[in-house]
Amino acid sequence: MRKFLIAGNWKMHTTAIEAEALLKALPEQLQDAPNVDVAVFPPSVYLDLTKRILGGSKIFWGGQNIASEPKGAFTGEISSIMLLDFDSTMVILGHSERRHVFGESDELIRKKIDLALDGGLIPIICVGETLEQREAGNTETVVLGQLQAALTGLNTDFVNKVVLAYEPVWAIGTGKTATPEQAQDVHRSIRNWIEKHFDKHMADSMRIVYGGSVKPANAKGLLSKPDIDGALVGGASLKINDFSEIIKAAKAS
Ligand code: PGA
Repeated sequence: MRKFLIAGNWKMHTTAIEAEALLKALPEQLQDAPNVDVAVFPPSVYLDLTKRILGGSKIFWGGQNIASEPKGAFTGEISSIMLLDFDSTMVILGHSERRHVFGESDELIRKKIDLALDGGLIPIICVGETLEQREAGNTETVVLGQLQAALTGLNTDFVNKVVLAYEPVWAIGTGKTATPEQAQDVHRSIRNWIEKHFDKHMADSMRIVYGGSVKPANAKGLLSKPDIDGALVGGASLKINDFSEIIKAAKAS
């Protein structure tokens, strides 16, 4: 049985005071939720605060990105080792904002995936198509192409650790969500791809979460689909009541 993962991506939001309030409110959201993991991805300057508040709780945390090199003269970058210093266990890689705003290529993202896995971090690898690509009928080609660049040649012990996030670019921060059926179709294709290129056991155990305007109102519909194993939540993860409702939807699914 796959466990749900509800992950909050705080992006470049929150002051230290807001971050502290959110972090303090989180642990109680996880009462009686044996079928749900929760993770948060605060801006990296708050990872120390996160470790101090969430240490000893069941909640996971991590970074929103890492550099593609392990160390060196890379002004402004954060390494995987630095995330590990603050007991991070996960990192978001290949988010559409990294791909489309910062121009990260599949090759660069793959270097980051290798570094994260070498260091013992679980990467949440994001894939997803733009609106133009969807309208041109290229969703599957784009998503599976990104997947291929991210996973081909990785050893199976590493692939076993990966979490995948399907995040259609047109649904992120726009209020437009993929319908549960649209999301399920892509999740199914991703799982089939994993089975074809690795094996059935790996496909059955891999967590594939959905992201893109997940809110309390649409969480239940999405999470009830057989191949949707959780949510990567942006905006709604900044409101504790909304995030809590999404966790509740997972608990009940
Ligand atoms: P959103 O962001 O929920 O605000 O659309 C999701 C994400 O970027 O991971």
